[in-house]
Amino acid sequence: MPTLKQTDPQIFDLIQKEQKRQETTLELIASENHVSTAVIEAVGTVLTNKYAEGYPGGRYYGGCEYYDQIETLAIDRAKQMFGCGFANVQPHCGANANLAAFMAMMQPGDNFLSLNLSSGGHLSHGMKLNASAVFYKPHHYELNPDTQTIDFDSVRRKAHEIKPKAILCGYSAYPRIIDFKKFREIADEVGAYLMADVAHIAGLIVGGVHPSPFPHAHVVTTTTHKTLRGPRGGLILCDTEELNKAINRSVFPGSQGGPLMHVIAGKAVAFGEALRPEFKTYAQQVVKNAKALADALSKLGYRLQSGGTDNHLMLVDLTARNADYTGAEAEKALERAGIITNKNAILNDPRPPKLTSGIRLGTPAVTTRGLKEAEMPLVASYFDRAIGAKDNADELAKIRREVATLCEKFAMPH
Ligand SMILES: Cc1ncc(COP(=O)(O)O)c(C=O)c1O
Repeated sequence: MPTLKQTDPQIFDLIQKEQKRQETTLELIASENHVSTAVIEAVGTVLTNKYAEGYPGGRYYGGCEYYDQIETLAIDRAKQMFGCGFANVQPHCGANANLAAFMAMMQPGDNFLSLNLSSGGHLSHGMKLNASAVFYKPHHYELNPDTQTIDFDSVRRKAHEIKPKAILCGYSAYPRIIDFKKFREIADEVGAYLMADVAHIAGLIVGGVHPSPFPHAHVVTTTTHKTLRGPRGGLILCDTEELNKAINRSVFPGSQGGPLMHVIAGKAVAFGEALRPEFKTYAQQVVKNAKALADALSKLGYRLQSGGTDNHLMLVDLTARNADYTGAEAEKALERAGIITNKNAILNDPRPPKLTSGIRLGTPAVTTRGLKEAEMPLVASYFDRAIGAKDNADELAKIRREVATLCEKFAMPH
């Protein structure tokens, strides 16, 4: 059979270029990672060829013998990772997992309580254009303005006020440990479901460096591609037969058709990797690296939201270093210097979302490459130099060469 290089040299060439970009730059986007060759291999297979609508043992298409075995393995490994009773591995992405979870817990028009996107929540937790707000009614709790951590008084007050069907915790830009038990107490006071979207911290939970949402959360959703280091996708977990039935119905046929079985195979491989002892070491190193990077940045004069980090990410307030710096400019300058990040609003950011005053940084991907605490001051110094040189093309090119040299020492996973 002709290879991709022969049949479509244009796409082949672009993939090669992207691979080189990843190899020669430092990936500090908190929601990204570098998967193993085993995961890539599983995803790039003939499993993409077939329809397998339904679930193992109950499909709407013939020929699913091996698909049933693959999906069952993925489900069993997911349950083992989180120590829970039920798993649905079919959501195509995190937002789909959240929509299906909403459909399982609520009726259209029902109230739910979550953290706002601008305070660190995810768009699928009630951003006005998202299905979560088009079909359900979002209300938001706040961060404490002094500590910039979850304000449980505000969670409790709002919960009693609006009597939500569901309370959401788990975030896209929150650097501290989540107290699932406290959330569950409040959910119980008002008879709400507790949904934990652990997309960002799933790998830390499995690796034992963040408390588990079980047994506190009724429904747990996650992506599989962030700290969990699998292919892009979603996952829903729960502990009761009744919720599991509702979740399964909400995923298929509720919100999706045929599952992406090649991706489910990749998820099974990644879950198998996450169950190995080495993954615990990895998760511990992710957190150690984040702390070391946060310390180094603080020493350089940057303010970190909430004062630091307990997990894999941090929110850097650029204005403490220089009031003129915007997140958008910093992201661009950093990219030219070979450091890949994303702009992010800080709490009560006066600038609009396309500009922002902050940058979100995370250590999952650089930890996969093997960088340790010793390298973090160097990474912080590249960061600081790049932002300081935002209008100096020569200096940015010089930093990029230095970054590429560092990257050569830390090869991509194989
Ligand atoms: C907390 C949280 N939930 C859900 C998602 C959505 O994941 P996806 O982009 O796969 O839909 C994200 C993505 O960043 C996230 O941070």
